[in-house]
Amino acid sequence: MEYWNKRFSGKGKIWGIEPSKTAIYALKLFKNYDIKKILIPGSGYGRHTKFFSLNNYEVTGIEISEIGLNIAKELDSKSKLMLGSVLDMPFNDEMYDAIFCYNLLHLLLKNERALFIEKCYSQLRDNGFIFFSVFSEQEERFGKGTKIEENTFESKPYRPTHYFTKEDILKHFNAFSVIETNIIEEKENHGDLGLHTHKFRYIFAKK
Ligand SMILES: C[S@@+](CC[C@H](N)C(=O)[O-])C[C@H]1O[C@@H](n2cnc3c(N)ncnc32)[C@H](O)[C@@H]1O
Repeated sequence: MEYWNKRFSGKGKIWGIEPSKTAIYALKLFKNYDIKKILIPGSGYGRHTKFFSLNNYEVTGIEISEIGLNIAKELDSKSKLMLGSVLDMPFNDEMYDAIFCYNLLHLLLKNERALFIEKCYSQLRDNGFIFFSVFSEQEERFGKGTKIEENTFESKPYRPTHYFTKEDILKHFNAFSVIETNIIEEKENHGDLGLHTHKFRYIFAKK
């Protein structure tokens, strides 16, 4: 929480207010199905809750950083935004048609990842969908920093990152029926790194 509060208080809307290429791709997939209610765990300062809300979905975001959440409330007045840790879900008794989770799962350690995925499964209606993106082993930072767990490195201080191989992501989501999984390249331009390209792994699957 402290790490993200610091990041959002210093640089505010770090990744800009436009949706990521990944979210635009997820929307394209979601449009093929009967999806109305979306849960966005780790919703940050709201660029993706806003994007899905503007596309006429009923959106709920959960965010651990109060500073991030307050920026989100200014950016996005349509979505329902809640403060809390995804590890303490559920925060209501709603069932969602889909869960969109952008780059949060890789920030959790092994037991937390399993718990979080279980909690997502329970908040999804039968035949509901998940779209998760995570750091892959093809990221430039893979293997850098102190090793904390298998394929998990503290490549930035106080921010362990788990890097997912294809086999690993399939194992994490083995309770779901996988529709597709692949690498998506996402360009970002922020901080000391300047313009750089991430190689995220995404998974789109059905309960
Ligand atoms: C890489 S950022 C992505 C933010 C947002 N999805 C976006 O793309 O703009 C990860 C987000 O997850 C949040 N987060 C990290 N751990 C969390 C937890 N346990 N519960 C809820 N949010 C968490 C962080 O505060 C941060 O906003």
